[in-house]
Amino acid sequence: MTALPLYRSPDELRAALAPLRARGDLGFVPTMGALHEGHLSLIRASAAQSETTVVSVFVNPTQFGPSEDFDAYPRMLQDDIAAAQSAGADVIFAPDKAGIYPEPYRTYIEVEGITGTLCGRSREGHFRGVATVVWKLLQIVDPDRAFFGAKDAQQVRVIRQMVRDLLGRWEIVACPTVREADGLAMSSRNAYLSKKERARAPAIQEALGDAIARIEKGERHAGRIRVGIMERIEAASLRPDYVDVVSLDDLAPVHETQGDILIAVAAFAGATRLIDNVCIHIGDQVEERLP
Ligand code: PAJ
Repeated sequence: MTALPLYRSPDELRAALAPLRARGDLGFVPTMGALHEGHLSLIRASAAQSETTVVSVFVNPTQFGPSEDFDAYPRMLQDDIAAAQSAGADVIFAPDKAGIYPEPYRTYIEVEGITGTLCGRSREGHFRGVATVVWKLLQIVDPDRAFFGAKDAQQVRVIRQMVRDLLGRWEIVACPTVREADGLAMSSRNAYLSKKERARAPAIQEALGDAIARIEKGERHAGRIRVGIMERIEAASLRPDYVDVVSLDDLAPVHETQGDILIAVAAFAGATRLIDNVCIHIGDQVEERLP
């Protein structure tokens, strides 16, 4: 296999994509690298639906808070290129900071209303950084469709809202959360976990599973569902950051679980913050759905 073409600057990438676009649909998978099976599932989904798949690898500084792990975030571009290629990627875009944020940089995108809850509450400015970089990446790549993981359900909602509000023409596709054999949602941050923390981490997904089981048995009281999840997580010696039951539509807390609901959790295992969620439709039956 010849190595995948790698582009470092937006202009180079745009020039390279022009002839590829003429051949058929472009799919795009934005990532921050340290690729695992979750990322690779998005690349496979794109490759199955698109003639050409572009994968970006960029650890976006503007979505990290001052006390977060921007410096420590794993960087392994050569491994990522090989993994992306094996999953069906055709082109890699790995810009540097100056390529995305030319100095002096002054323009950001703020999605209102749905960015102050859940992860937006504990990570101030996070979604401003996500929205800004995703908009720029979508402009540069200009794909037919872009793929995002349900693991970051709020991120999917924020990006959908932004693309709709700013009249973007890219289709936003959500793909299911990929998990380890014991249920833990795959994440680049799982690499930070000690052996003990790793053993405790599946409790988050187990707590969400319990919540679904209770809803299937008829529980409709969001407060009781929250408390159940919280207790289960604390019993595993994890420290909850938030446990919220919200409407999938506007991410506002609900009292009664009905319709389309997002149950989202962030919890610390030691110093590592893990997130997970389930999206469900509660009608005559309880069905899992994508955000
Ligand atoms: P990153 O955390 O690298 O994730 C890139 C994409 O992979 C996101 O759409 C994320 O939801 C998805 N993903 C991560 N873990 C997954 C899993 N276990 N199953 C399925 N999909 C998973 O999310 C970001 O980067 C950044 O915010 C980004 C969108 C690239 C903007 O900087």
